[in-house]
Amino acid sequence: METIKTIPEMKQWSERARGSHRTIGFVPTMGSLHEGHMSLVQKSVSTCDVTVASIFINPSQFGKNEDLDTYPRNLEGDRRLLETAGVDVLFLPSPQDMYPEGYKTFVTVEGITGHLCGQSRPGFFRGIATVVVKLFNIVRPHTGFFGDKDWQQAAVVETLLRDLNIDATIKRMPIVRDADGLAKSSRNLYLSKDEMTPARSLSRALELARHQVQNGQFSAERIRREIRQLIEKNKAAHIDYISICDPDSFIEQDEIKDESLIALAVHIGKTRLIDNCIVRREKCKE
Ligand code: PAF
Repeated sequence: METIKTIPEMKQWSERARGSHRTIGFVPTMGSLHEGHMSLVQKSVSTCDVTVASIFINPSQFGKNEDLDTYPRNLEGDRRLLETAGVDVLFLPSPQDMYPEGYKTFVTVEGITGHLCGQSRPGFFRGIATVVVKLFNIVRPHTGFFGDKDWQQAAVVETLLRDLNIDATIKRMPIVRDADGLAKSSRNLYLSKDEMTPARSLSRALELARHQVQNGQFSAERIRREIRQLIEKNKAAHIDYISICDPDSFIEQDEIKDESLIALAVHIGKTRLIDNCIVRREKCKE
């Protein structure tokens, strides 16, 4: 595996790969890799001719009081995982190269970023949209790989690729969970032993909601209440949002539709976790 640290070298590498008609798969990450990231890497390696993974802790997507300085870092461990998985290039740009003095341009996706995480973390999706456009312009992938845990992020990226006529497609991959249902996240490393039970209440609440829908409960208000009750049994858990919404527009729904997204953001102590699932109102058989 080659490590590339500068933008011109990365561009040249991609130019050569495209010149020899090889398809480029790209997995953008902020490092501290876990099985969720690795499922994206595996998909890219198995479906594209070459795979580039980037590790860049993107300052522009962190709010003032967020965890930019303490975000988990594990470069050597990450490098080993990527190498073993068959990644061709690890792209490691520096913050100075990505946002040099005098940097002025940001990308804003309107509408869909006004809901869920966009509402609780102002500037978050502006930072993500900006860095993704920059990374895609540098790496020039044919396909970018994104996880469904960050459902809204994947939708934002799909929208900006379409709107800005960027010739790349997105492949979304399912959420990877531990044996107890906790969705894999780099931020799980922040959780203390005592916080593991409250952390698992997110996936348990989604499981409960899914059962309710299967049993014919379609009232969003009722489902939200049940989710809240289950999560708030844990003193360490503080709900940021419980959303039952359209999976594309993120507009809240009063009742479960043909397809609805149930999305949660919950603070467990100092750690903010998100999780989601899709539920479907199956047509009743006559
Ligand atoms: O999902 C992430 O790790 C980040 O938001 C991303 C897409 C790498 C942009 O910084």
